[in-house]
Parts: sequence; C-alpha cells; structure tokens
Amino acid sequence: MQLLPGFRDFYPEDCARRNYILAKWREVARRYGFVEYDGPVLEPMALYEKKSGGELVGQLFDFEDKGKRHVAMRPEMTPTLARMVAARERDFKKPLKWFCVPQFFRYEKQQRGRLREFYQLNCDIIGEASPAADAELIAVTIDMLRALGLTQHDFVVRVSSRHVLVDVFGEKLNLKDEGELTGFFEILDKIDRTDPERSDAALKSFNTSVADIRVWLQQIREQILDPTSYQSGVSAGTHSAQMHELLHNHLRPRGLMEFVDVDFTIVRGLAYYTGVVFEVFDRSKNERALAGGGRYDGLLSLMSDGKVNLPALGFGMGDVVLANLINDTPAAKAQMEAWLAQERACSVYVVIAKEDRRADALALVQSLRDAGHRVDFPLVAGKVGKQFQTAEQLGAKHAVVVGDEWPRIRLKTLASREEIELDPADLLARL
Ligand code: HAM
Repeated sequence: MQLLPGFRDFYPEDCARRNYILAKWREVARRYGFVEYDGPVLEPMALYEKKSGGELVGQLFDFEDKGKRHVAMRPEMTPTLARMVAARERDFKKPLKWFCVPQFFRYEKQQRGRLREFYQLNCDIIGEASPAADAELIAVTIDMLRALGLTQHDFVVRVSSRHVLVDVFGEKLNLKDEGELTGFFEILDKIDRTDPERSDAALKSFNTSVADIRVWLQQIREQILDPTSYQSGVSAGTHSAQMHELLHNHLRPRGLMEFVDVDFTIVRGLAYYTGVVFEVFDRSKNERALAGGGRYDGLLSLMSDGKVNLPALGFGMGDVVLANLINDTPAAKAQMEAWLAQERACSVYVVIAKEDRRADALALVQSLRDAGHRVDFPLVAGKVGKQFQTAEQLGAKHAVVVGDEWPRIRLKTLASREEIELDPADLLARL
C-alpha cells in the first residue's frame, strides 16, 4: 500500500529531526513568555470558509462525517484560536501570549517546501494594539531561527503593512471599495513572480503600471527605513509612522535590524489580516516562505458577532521549508547533527560478561535507570566483544562490565579506554 502524496512517514531519524525543530521552537517560545495551548484537529467547515478566506478554502481536506456535519481537518490555527479566546476572553489577563505546534493538512500541489501535511509553530499576542507587540512578535520569529543556527545571512523578515498600502494606494489610485482593494492586492502579491507585461495589463484598470508602483513602494520603504525621517513633519500615529516606531524604537534596540527589511509587495493571502504583515524568506531565495503572519485586529469581533473586540497578531512557521534550509546551511546542519548525536546516545551500556550474573546485572540496570541514566544491555546472551561493539554503536559513554569480578564490577570510559574496578554501590557517584 502506497503512502498518500504529500504525507510523510517519520522513521526514527526523521522523527528525531522533527523533534529537534519542535524542541527549539518550544524553548524559544518559553524564553519569550508564551504559553502553550492546542485545539481540535477537526473543525466545522464553515469556520474556515468564513474566517480564513482566500486560497486556503480551496485547499481543505473536508468531508461529511457520520452525523452529516460538513467538517474539515485543520489547515491553520488562527480561526480556532480566535474562537477559543472569544469564548473565554474574561478568564485571561491581557495581553495573551500563546503558542502551539500543531499538525496541519492542506490539499496543495506537492512540491519543494509544500506538502499536504506539516507542522507549524504559531505564536500569537492578543489584546495589545501597540507597535511594541508587533516588534515582540517579529523578534520571537527571528530568535526561533537564530536558535536553529541560522543568521542574518541566511534569512530575512520582510515587513509590510496593509494599512500603509491602503493609505498610499487608496488615495493615489482612488481605490473606492474592498473589492477594488482586494483586486489590487492580488496583483501586488504576485508582482515579483509575474511577467511585468502581464502585471501591467492587469494594472491598466487601475490607471497605473509596474514601474510607477515600484517607485512609490521604494519611496515609502526608504522613508520608513531611515531612522531620522519621522522626528518632525509626519504626524505621529499615522500607519507609516507606527511602522517606523516598530522598527526603530522596538527592534533596533534589540540589535535585530539586520534581520529585517521593508517590502510592500508582501500582502499575505489570508482574508483576516489588517495592519502590519510579514513573511520570512531565505536569502538565497531557493525556498518558499519560511513563516508568515501579521495583525488580524477584526477577527475576534467577527468570530463573536461583535461581543469581543480585541486587537490580535501572530505568525505561523512551518517545519518543511525550515528543514530544507537547515540542511542547506552548513553551520545550522552541524548544530542539528550535534544535538541529534547527543539525543541518541545512551549513557551506560551494561555488559553481561557472565550469564550467571544476569540477575545482578538487571538489578544494576534498574538502579541506574531509576537514577535517570539512559541505559541499555543485551536482552539475550552474547559474546563480550559483540556487546562492546553494540555499546560503541549506541554511542555509550560508559560500559559497565558485570562478570567474574562480582561482587565488584568494572567501569570503562569508552572514549579514553580508561578502566577502574569498583563496588556497585559506588557506581552512581562515578558516573
Ligand atoms: P501561512 O502563510 O498560510 O499562515 O503559513 C505559514 C507558514 O506555514 C508558511 O510560511 C510555511 O512555512 C508553512 N506552510 C504553509 N502551508 C504549507 C504546506 N502546504 N506545506 C508545508 N508548509 C506549509 C498561516 O497559516 C497563518 N494562520 C499564520 C498566522 C498565525 N497568522 C496569525 N497567526
């Protein structure tokens, strides 16, 4: 029987690599004070139809269950999170900083960086409208990747803002309603990947061109990246001034400016985003986006029919693209290999040199395991040489030999070949 396309078997070595990424994600999320939550794998189809919107709706694994409900396997977390928070909003002190590491399902065309089943870290902050929260979120995104051994030479966070785009283009192009805006965003979203002639043709109805748009985007980009530009003149509180504040007041002091750029061709495909949005890319541009997110200030209100109105923002980072990038980045790969070797290694291998002593050896194995050591031993009788070979293969640091010397044992440090004889009662203290 064949594996379904886009799904994965996790053999132990694959599982270990996945666990490495998940362990680092959890470590950094906690470092930033995020707490873990989770939700159901199956949700009503309507949740995603109404809240995710965009191309995601066409990628759902949906079906009718035995109770005739139209359900879908989760393709993302944001609608679930919004539902959960809206339901018990009063129970939590704001801002909430929540993270999760769920498995998602999307019926996408299988390709490099895109599968039909993947893991995605989500970090979200709910209940804080200040640009300080956007910066905290971008900082945690950066540190997730730094913790995996990646540097500013390997990836870049491209920050944009739907509000700034509306401010600039709403006026310049006289975009009157949501429909025109969405149509324009769709062209902008693909402008880097589309033949300019085709984009120009699409932009005709907006009375503009790729060249004009690039000039405007570059002007506003330079203004926002310039640390001195908003001290006088532009009034504080405008959307572009808020983006400036995010970068220069909140990210610069952390020393993280080398990891970010401003790029207004980032608009994001999901319907719920409102203000600042961002995506993370590898510098070599070999991969799809590593992560993406932004503000979705209207979603909780939408979810609760206006009862709960809280600003919110978050991002998702997938394991598939990330694993590709780690594999292609020597320093990051070496760090992962070292972690994996340590994870794999057993600390003590108990060699049973005399089968009569098996009961004594088992008692010793049990006491070492009780003390928290990772211990292995031969389940059936075998030659001593073979047992030492197994100990080496398992990466054991020590071998303990139970045999002729009983009630004394031998402790061997495998790397240095150093050996001492001792009483079993003294073993724990020597390890
Ligand atoms: P998204 O851009 O759809 O955002 O996904 C975020 C990341 O998940 C992508 O950049 C990519 O690394 C990974 N990803 C997405 N689809 C696939 C796939 N088919 N195979 C492998 N990896 C994939 C969201 O999902 C938003 N809900 C993120 C968010 C959280 N926004 C606010 N809070």
